[in-house]
Amino acid sequence: MTANRYQMYNDNPFKLGLFGANCSSGRAINKLPERWLADWDSCETMAKIADEGGIDFILPIGRWKGYGGKTDFQGTTFETITWATGLLAHTKKLTVFGTVHAPLFNPMVAAKQIVTADHVGRGRFGLNIVVGWNEPEFQMSGIQQREHGDRYEYAEEWISAIKKMWNEKEPFDFDEDYLHLKNVVAKPKLHADSSPLIINAGQSATGRAFALRHCHAFFTNFREADVKKSAEFVAQFKSDAKALGRDANVYTQGHVVCRPSRKEAEDYFHYLTTEGVDYEAIEGLLQLKNITRENTPDYDEYVRNLPPKNVGYPIIGSPDDVTEKFIRMHAAGLSGIAFSLVNYVDELPLIVDEVIPRLRNAGLKTPQLPNNA
Ligand SMILES: Cc1cc2nc3c(=O)[nH]c(=O)nc-3n(C[C@H](O)[C@H](O)[C@H](O)COP(=O)(O)O)c2cc1C
Repeated sequence: MTANRYQMYNDNPFKLGLFGANCSSGRAINKLPERWLADWDSCETMAKIADEGGIDFILPIGRWKGYGGKTDFQGTTFETITWATGLLAHTKKLTVFGTVHAPLFNPMVAAKQIVTADHVGRGRFGLNIVVGWNEPEFQMSGIQQREHGDRYEYAEEWISAIKKMWNEKEPFDFDEDYLHLKNVVAKPKLHADSSPLIINAGQSATGRAFALRHCHAFFTNFREADVKKSAEFVAQFKSDAKALGRDANVYTQGHVVCRPSRKEAEDYFHYLTTEGVDYEAIEGLLQLKNITRENTPDYDEYVRNLPPKNVGYPIIGSPDDVTEKFIRMHAAGLSGIAFSLVNYVDELPLIVDEVIPRLRNAGLKTPQLPNNA
């Protein structure tokens, strides 16, 4: 694996990624006129601005069914491997991930889809493995969702079989508890015969253990109120990975509202998380977690008070403020952040023009690598 093959292997100490742009409304449950519609032209424009502007990666969400409400939050979504392949064809430097539900993708098909995407991107495809969350998505697919622990056991076999398909030169059998594959062949291999960056964002102990065994990067929530705790978590994860002979980095996620002044950013964030909210979609999301009017005292207040918590970790302010928060995350040992925006095309230029140069001045970003296409 050569250093200039992957943007994610570049020397930037703190990597920036765009999160959720394959889904309508991204990650903010809003009904604002400028909300993200996730149409292809906008996605392509976003990726080009990101690629040329120094963003390191793009991370989609594996979503198959929306949450309803006025906007059917995340109801319009592109499948992520094909979406990534298209974006890789239009970019030169950044890594684009596919977020792949292990139980929904036959491993033989997934292995080849990933190889195809990786060749189109000349080694810039990344794999985010998810095991499934929302029951209605499984009902819609006709596939039975497994018990929580079994989901990761299955994923373990799934990724092991796929890695074999990426690496084995001779036909092989794969006969385990869940997968029984006979006389498997797979050509071509990955671009330059290496592994794509593999990530996982499980929050449970089982999910974390899976990530330690199979992934190069893991996601955790940043605790601003207790940066020391975040730092301890990151240090522990890295040392647990080392004990297994592996190198792993830890990333976090959030939502950015960056405006020329702090006041403008705070006013917009307030608007986004009050008047701008699609509350019916929030109710749809809560229903999935079995939080209903019937079983929740003060339900209306609960729903009203949920934003902005549901938006992801908020990074709100002027370019100086946003840079400062990224610096604090880096100081906690985090290797980067995947963040969402209300409108990726409208809001990205200010980040590229004003935040990235500040990060460079702070030593958290190096000049971009030359194009590898
Ligand atoms: C950054 C991030 C991205 C995620 N992306 C998805 C996704 O696209 N689709 C999905 O079903 N779950 C997604 N998840 C959920 C996780 O994969 C995981 O299932 C969840 O955090 C619960 O952890 P557990 O599986 O260990 O219980 C994501 C979580 C995080 C923090």
